[in-house]
Amino acid sequence: MRKRVVGNWKMNGSRQTIAAVLGELGQISVAADVAVCVPYPYVAAATSVLAIGQITVGAQNISEFPEGAYTGEVSGRMLKDMACSSVIIGHSERRRWFHESDESVARKLDKALDAKLFAIVCVGETLAEREAGVTEAVISAQLSRLAGVIGEGDASDRYCIAYEPVWAIGTGRAASEAQIEEVHDFIKRCVGETIQVLYGGSVNAANAAKILHLKNVDGVLVGGASLDAKEFGSICKAAVL
Ligand code: PGA
Repeated sequence: MRKRVVGNWKMNGSRQTIAAVLGELGQISVAADVAVCVPYPYVAAATSVLAIGQITVGAQNISEFPEGAYTGEVSGRMLKDMACSSVIIGHSERRRWFHESDESVARKLDKALDAKLFAIVCVGETLAEREAGVTEAVISAQLSRLAGVIGEGDASDRYCIAYEPVWAIGTGRAASEAQIEEVHDFIKRCVGETIQVLYGGSVNAANAAKILHLKNVDGVLVGGASLDAKEFGSICKAAVL
Protein backbone atom coordinates (compact mmCIF):
# COMPACT_ATOMS: atom_id res chain seq x y z
CA MET A 1 0.00 0.00 0.00
CA ARG A 2 1.36 3.44 -0.97
CA LYS A 3 1.84 5.58 2.12
CA ARG A 4 -0.21 8.71 2.68
CA VAL A 5 1.08 11.96 4.19
CA VAL A 6 -1.40 14.69 5.06
CA GLY A 7 -0.41 18.15 6.29
CA ASN A 8 -2.91 20.04 8.44
CA TRP A 9 -2.14 23.75 8.56
CA LYS A 10 -5.02 24.40 10.99
CA MET A 11 -5.73 28.14 11.31
CA ASN A 12 -2.23 29.13 10.28
CA GLY A 13 -0.63 30.57 7.18
CA SER A 14 -1.00 33.52 4.85
CA ARG A 15 -0.75 34.23 1.13
CA GLN A 16 2.95 34.64 1.70
CA THR A 17 3.41 31.21 3.37
CA ILE A 18 1.26 29.53 0.72
CA ALA A 19 3.61 30.89 -1.94
CA ALA A 20 6.81 30.17 0.00
CA VAL A 21 6.11 26.82 1.68
CA LEU A 22 3.98 25.22 -1.02
CA GLY A 23 6.19 26.71 -3.73
CA GLU A 24 9.14 24.83 -2.23
CA LEU A 25 7.16 21.64 -1.57
CA GLY A 26 5.82 21.60 -5.11
CA GLN A 27 9.37 20.96 -6.36
CA ILE A 28 10.01 17.74 -4.47
CA SER A 29 9.31 14.32 -5.83
CA VAL A 30 7.51 11.94 -3.50
CA ALA A 31 6.67 8.25 -3.50
CA ALA A 32 3.60 8.70 -1.31
CA ASP A 33 0.16 10.30 -1.72
CA VAL A 34 0.71 13.74 -0.20
CA ALA A 35 -1.95 16.36 0.53
CA VAL A 36 -1.77 19.69 2.32
CA CYS A 37 -5.00 20.80 4.02
CA VAL A 38 -5.05 24.59 4.12
CA PRO A 39 -7.60 27.05 5.52
CA TYR A 40 -10.56 27.61 3.16
CA PRO A 41 -9.53 31.07 1.90
CA TYR A 42 -6.22 29.71 0.63
CA VAL A 43 -7.54 26.67 -1.25
CA ALA A 44 -7.48 28.41 -4.63
CA ALA A 45 -3.99 29.84 -4.15
CA ALA A 46 -2.71 26.48 -2.91
CA THR A 47 -4.11 24.56 -5.87
CA SER A 48 -2.55 27.00 -8.28
CA VAL A 49 0.88 26.85 -6.58
CA LEU A 50 0.75 23.03 -6.47
CA ALA A 51 -0.79 22.57 -9.92
CA ILE A 52 2.37 21.21 -11.51
CA GLY A 53 3.66 18.99 -8.69
CA GLN A 54 2.47 15.71 -7.21
CA ILE A 55 1.03 17.19 -4.02
CA THR A 56 -2.72 17.75 -3.77
CA VAL A 57 -4.76 20.22 -1.74
CA GLY A 58 -7.30 19.35 0.93
CA ALA A 59 -9.64 21.17 3.30
CA GLN A 60 -9.93 20.87 7.07
CA ASN A 61 -13.71 20.72 7.36
CA ILE A 62 -16.87 20.31 5.29
CA SER A 63 -20.49 21.20 5.89
CA GLU A 64 -22.85 18.42 6.84
CA PHE A 65 -25.47 20.13 4.65
CA PRO A 66 -25.55 19.95 0.85
CA GLU A 67 -26.13 23.64 0.05
CA GLY A 68 -28.41 26.55 0.81
CA ALA A 69 -29.13 28.82 3.76
CA TYR A 70 -26.29 27.79 6.10
CA THR A 71 -24.33 31.00 6.70
CA GLY A 72 -20.61 30.45 7.07
CA GLU A 73 -20.61 26.87 5.81
CA VAL A 74 -18.66 25.39 2.88
CA SER A 75 -20.10 22.46 0.96
CA GLY A 76 -18.40 19.42 -0.50
CA ARG A 77 -19.46 20.52 -3.98
CA MET A 78 -17.69 23.87 -3.47
CA LEU A 79 -14.52 22.15 -2.32
CA LYS A 80 -14.57 19.89 -5.34
CA ASP A 81 -15.27 22.90 -7.55
CA MET A 82 -12.11 24.56 -6.15
CA ALA A 83 -10.04 21.45 -7.03
CA CYS A 84 -9.74 20.11 -3.49
CA SER A 85 -9.06 16.38 -3.49
CA SER A 86 -9.51 15.54 0.16
CA VAL A 87 -10.94 16.75 3.45
CA ILE A 88 -10.17 16.17 7.13
CA ILE A 89 -13.28 15.27 9.14
CA GLY A 90 -13.82 15.12 12.91
CA HIS A 91 -10.45 16.47 14.01
CA SER A 92 -10.31 16.55 17.82
CA GLU A 93 -10.06 20.34 17.72
CA ARG A 94 -13.40 20.45 15.88
CA ARG A 95 -14.90 17.97 18.31
CA ARG A 96 -13.61 20.03 21.23
CA TRP A 97 -14.17 23.66 20.17
CA PHE A 98 -17.09 23.22 17.79
CA HIS A 99 -18.84 20.36 19.55
CA GLU A 100 -18.82 18.01 16.61
CA SER A 101 -20.44 14.73 17.58
CA ASP A 102 -19.91 11.27 16.12
CA GLU A 103 -23.25 11.76 14.35
CA SER A 104 -22.20 15.00 12.69
CA VAL A 105 -18.86 13.43 11.73
CA ALA A 106 -20.81 10.66 9.98
CA ARG A 107 -23.00 13.21 8.17
CA LYS A 108 -19.90 15.10 7.04
CA LEU A 109 -18.34 11.88 5.79
CA ASP A 110 -21.51 11.22 3.82
CA LYS A 111 -21.23 14.65 2.17
CA ALA A 112 -17.53 14.17 1.42
CA LEU A 113 -18.23 10.85 -0.27
CA ASP A 114 -21.11 12.39 -2.27
CA ALA A 115 -18.71 15.07 -3.52
CA LYS A 116 -16.04 12.44 -4.34
CA LEU A 117 -13.59 13.95 -1.86
CA PHE A 118 -11.19 11.56 -0.14
CA ALA A 119 -12.01 11.76 3.58
CA ILE A 120 -9.51 11.61 6.42
CA VAL A 121 -11.62 10.80 9.49
CA CYS A 122 -9.94 11.51 12.82
CA VAL A 123 -10.39 9.49 15.99
CA GLY A 124 -8.50 9.42 19.27
CA GLU A 125 -8.72 9.44 23.03
CA THR A 126 -7.97 12.14 25.57
CA LEU A 127 -5.35 11.64 28.26
CA ALA A 128 -8.07 11.09 30.87
CA GLU A 129 -9.66 8.42 28.69
CA ARG A 130 -6.33 6.66 28.17
CA GLU A 131 -5.59 6.75 31.88
CA ALA A 132 -9.05 5.38 32.61
CA GLY A 133 -8.29 2.44 30.29
CA VAL A 134 -11.13 3.21 27.88
CA THR A 135 -9.12 4.04 24.73
CA GLU A 136 -10.57 1.18 22.67
CA ALA A 137 -14.13 1.86 23.83
CA VAL A 138 -13.81 5.54 22.89
CA ILE A 139 -12.40 4.76 19.46
CA SER A 140 -14.90 2.06 18.75
CA ALA A 141 -17.74 4.50 19.58
CA GLN A 142 -16.16 7.12 17.28
CA LEU A 143 -15.95 4.55 14.47
CA SER A 144 -19.32 2.96 14.99
CA ARG A 145 -21.41 5.61 13.17
CA LEU A 146 -19.24 5.47 10.05
CA ALA A 147 -20.27 2.03 8.82
CA GLY A 148 -23.81 3.15 7.97
CA VAL A 149 -22.41 5.85 5.73
CA ILE A 150 -19.72 3.79 4.02
CA GLY A 151 -21.94 0.86 3.05
CA GLU A 152 -20.73 -2.44 1.68
CA GLY A 153 -17.65 -3.12 -0.41
CA ASP A 154 -14.08 -1.89 -0.36
CA ALA A 155 -13.95 1.83 0.46
CA SER A 156 -10.19 2.19 0.73
CA ASP A 157 -10.08 4.66 -2.16
CA ARG A 158 -12.76 6.84 -0.54
CA TYR A 159 -11.63 7.33 3.06
CA CYS A 160 -8.99 6.59 5.67
CA ILE A 161 -8.81 6.86 9.44
CA ALA A 162 -6.31 9.07 11.28
CA TYR A 163 -5.54 7.94 14.82
CA GLU A 164 -4.66 11.06 16.78
CA PRO A 165 -4.36 10.69 20.54
CA VAL A 166 -5.52 14.11 21.77
CA TRP A 167 -2.69 14.28 24.31
CA ALA A 168 -0.09 13.88 21.55
CA ILE A 169 -1.34 16.73 19.36
CA GLY A 170 0.87 19.80 19.42
CA THR A 171 2.59 18.66 22.61
CA GLY A 172 5.89 17.42 21.20
CA ARG A 173 5.08 14.11 22.85
CA ALA A 174 4.17 11.54 20.19
CA ALA A 175 2.60 8.27 21.29
CA SER A 176 5.08 5.44 21.83
CA GLU A 177 5.65 2.88 19.10
CA ALA A 178 3.87 0.23 21.17
CA GLN A 179 0.88 2.50 21.77
CA ILE A 180 0.61 3.33 18.07
CA GLU A 181 0.84 -0.32 16.99
CA GLU A 182 -1.71 -1.42 19.53
CA VAL A 183 -4.35 1.15 18.57
CA HIS A 184 -3.75 0.82 14.82
CA ASP A 185 -4.21 -2.93 15.10
CA PHE A 186 -7.49 -2.32 16.95
CA ILE A 187 -8.71 0.18 14.31
CA LYS A 188 -7.86 -2.20 11.46
CA ARG A 189 -9.88 -4.89 13.19
CA CYS A 190 -12.83 -2.46 13.38
CA VAL A 191 -12.73 -1.00 9.85
CA GLY A 192 -11.01 -3.73 7.85
CA GLU A 193 -7.45 -4.40 6.72
CA THR A 194 -7.69 -2.45 3.47
CA ILE A 195 -8.57 0.90 5.06
CA GLN A 196 -5.48 3.04 5.60
CA VAL A 197 -4.80 4.12 9.17
CA LEU A 198 -2.61 7.20 9.60
CA TYR A 199 -0.97 8.27 12.84
CA GLY A 200 -1.07 11.91 13.94
CA GLY A 201 0.29 13.74 16.98
CA SER A 202 3.71 15.43 17.17
CA VAL A 203 5.06 13.80 14.01
CA ASN A 204 8.23 15.55 12.85
CA ALA A 205 11.23 14.97 10.59
CA ALA A 206 13.08 13.18 13.40
CA ASN A 207 10.43 10.58 14.28
CA ALA A 208 8.55 10.17 10.96
CA ALA A 209 10.59 7.34 9.44
CA LYS A 210 10.27 5.18 12.56
CA ILE A 211 6.53 5.80 12.87
CA LEU A 212 5.90 5.26 9.15
CA HIS A 213 7.50 1.84 9.29
CA LEU A 214 5.50 0.51 12.21
CA LYS A 215 3.07 -2.33 11.56
CA ASN A 216 -0.35 -1.10 10.40
CA VAL A 217 0.82 2.51 10.00
CA ASP A 218 -0.14 3.54 6.47
CA GLY A 219 0.79 7.19 6.76
CA VAL A 220 0.88 10.26 8.96
CA LEU A 221 -1.22 13.35 9.63
CA VAL A 222 1.09 16.24 10.41
CA GLY A 223 0.16 19.54 12.05
CA GLY A 224 2.90 21.94 13.14
CA ALA A 225 5.67 20.35 11.08
CA SER A 226 3.65 20.76 7.86
CA LEU A 227 4.14 24.54 8.01
CA ASP A 228 7.86 24.16 7.37
CA ALA A 229 8.77 23.06 3.84
CA LYS A 230 12.06 21.40 4.82
CA GLU A 231 10.56 19.54 7.77
CA PHE A 232 7.44 18.42 5.88
CA GLY A 233 9.50 17.60 2.80
CA SER A 234 11.66 15.21 4.78
CA ILE A 235 8.56 13.58 6.33
CA CYS A 236 7.22 13.05 2.79
CA LYS A 237 10.53 11.54 1.72
CA ALA A 238 10.44 9.14 4.68
CA ALA A 239 7.10 7.81 3.40
CA VAL A 240 8.44 5.10 1.15
CA LEU A 241 7.22 1.53 0.95
P1 PGA B 1 0.73 18.16 15.46
O1 PGA B 1 -0.83 18.14 15.05
O2 PGA B 1 1.48 17.43 14.39
O3 PGA B 1 1.07 19.62 15.52
O4 PGA B 1 0.84 17.46 16.77
C1 PGA B 1 -1.40 17.01 14.43
C2 PGA B 1 -2.85 17.26 14.11
O5 PGA B 1 -3.54 17.91 14.91
O6 PGA B 1 -3.35 16.86 13.04
